[in-house]
Amino acid sequence: MTNQYNDFRVTMAARAPGQVSLARGKGAVATASRQASELAIQVLQGGGNAFDAAFSTAFSLCIYHPQAGNLGGGGYLLFQPKGGTPKVFNYREQAPRGATQKDFLRLDGSVDPDRTSFGPTSVCVPGTVKAFFELQQRHGNLKARDLLLAVAQRARDGAVVTQYEADCLNRLGPKLATSPEARRIYVRDNPFQAGDLLPNPDLAATLTTLAQEGEQAFYRGRIAEQIVADLQAHGGFLAAEDLADYAIREVDPISVEIAGRQVWTVPPEGGGAMLLDILSTLDQAAFRGCAYGGPEYYHYLAQASKMAFIDRMGYLGDMPLGPDYQNLLTRESAARRFACIHPARDTPTDALAASLKVAGKNTTHFAIIDAEGNAVSNSYTMNLRYGSKWAVAGAGFLLNGSIDSFSFIEGKENYFGVIGSTPNLFAPGKRPASNMAPVLVTSGGTAEMVLGTPGGPTIPTTLATMLTATLLHGVDPQPLVRASRLHHQGWPDTLYHEPGFDRPDLLAALADMGYKVKDKQELISDVQGVFRRGEEVLAVSDYRREGLALANPG
Ligand code: DON
Repeated sequence: MTNQYNDFRVTMAARAPGQVSLARGKGAVATASRQASELAIQVLQGGGNAFDAAFSTAFSLCIYHPQAGNLGGGGYLLFQPKGGTPKVFNYREQAPRGATQKDFLRLDGSVDPDRTSFGPTSVCVPGTVKAFFELQQRHGNLKARDLLLAVAQRARDGAVVTQYEADCLNRLGPKLATSPEARRIYVRDNPFQAGDLLPNPDLAATLTTLAQEGEQAFYRGRIAEQIVADLQAHGGFLAAEDLADYAIREVDPISVEIAGRQVWTVPPEGGGAMLLDILSTLDQAAFRGCAYGGPEYYHYLAQASKMAFIDRMGYLGDMPLGPDYQNLLTRESAARRFACIHPARDTPTDALAASLKVAGKNTTHFAIIDAEGNAVSNSYTMNLRYGSKWAVAGAGFLLNGSIDSFSFIEGKENYFGVIGSTPNLFAPGKRPASNMAPVLVTSGGTAEMVLGTPGGPTIPTTLATMLTATLLHGVDPQPLVRASRLHHQGWPDTLYHEPGFDRPDLLAALADMGYKVKDKQELISDVQGVFRRGEEVLAVSDYRREGLALANPG
């Protein structure tokens, strides 16, 4: 994939595939950071429930995994109070009302990625703080103030930098250095090494303000003033009214039934419909009957993925959903899509689009189930690693660069190579389309699985691989998380594999079926999940970004 963006792609894993992290107990957590998982377990052991643990985790990832953990980003929180109805908080970032489409175009009419994905111009209104206060106030057991003061202390003490984070910080240092606050916190004369301490006293002060004054400090009070003053002084569009008027949207999750279980995820403009599109297409006897892991298996997955990315062009955006979307997840529509798949050959994406009659980085997930059965599945993002790379002066936290998730020109790709489409065209006050798709699987009302990943367009394809294998083919999560990954997003019409793919025979067989097979030159996704196993739950954390699974034995 080539484009004009100059963010690097991390190709190395600091840990080996065999080091997938596992933990089993009465309650369990999986996050992208050892220190965040340790804090979450402490909260559970100190009388907190999954919602208290999620609150502390969301804020502490800002310290421990600053490339994606955030106060300055947004996402989707899918949760289920024990045995109850699953709910979604849509706290996606929102375009400032004072920005116009022209503000992101060059004189020749092309999109300027240095304005859409980098620096103050790329910043959308963040939703994270509002969503987690709402969750904790409604469903938590403990006091938000106490939880936040404990997180503030950790910001003061500092994060122990992992190898993965050190690599990312060292590579992106020159970009972080354009923001004076980010430079002070994240850029050093000597390269970061694993084990270095990274304290953040300004973030500690911000968290203390939140503990004492609540979320309104971020949207109308002291922190709001800091954000607006800094962005306005440096050419950003975000204004005091954008923050003051921001609201989370409480919506119903969307769902399909697969193998007697209910799979829940987030509606558009989130990425959940793409995932359910793939799952419902593949829930057919011919796919269930093919051997897990063989070329035919991956062929069906790739074809269903291509169709999900074709479908996305018609509906995915922050706008009213039309009849095409309403029909998308029906059995008839799934059977019609499945019938478009040639059983032994790759059909070019353009030809698939014609038969469907369609004209034609950074995020993190955490998963928690507590001993009572409360479940939280949260994906949130700053878009690319460290978001806009811009940190608020004196406040110690980075802001998202999510303007780039909009389409500006139809047919033109964004950072992730996703083609611009009408429903996602930029407009002031709109939320950009997202690939994020936190998942909850229930059986008879009980949370059986919470699962998710970062990775832009690789989010729905990775989760489809996980869910087809676990639900339709009975594969255990551990070998699945360890396995080398494949990804197809329709355009470019190429099947991507991870570097060092461990099954060259499979790649050769897929090439024989007509696929153009190519090394993506970066690791694909970073799965964090918790799975019910009888009376206990099993947490599984990917090796790709050095996450950690931990369990609460009691
Ligand atoms: O919402 C989205 O689709 C993007 N902001 C996701 C970015 C992402 O997953 C980067 N992670 N590697």
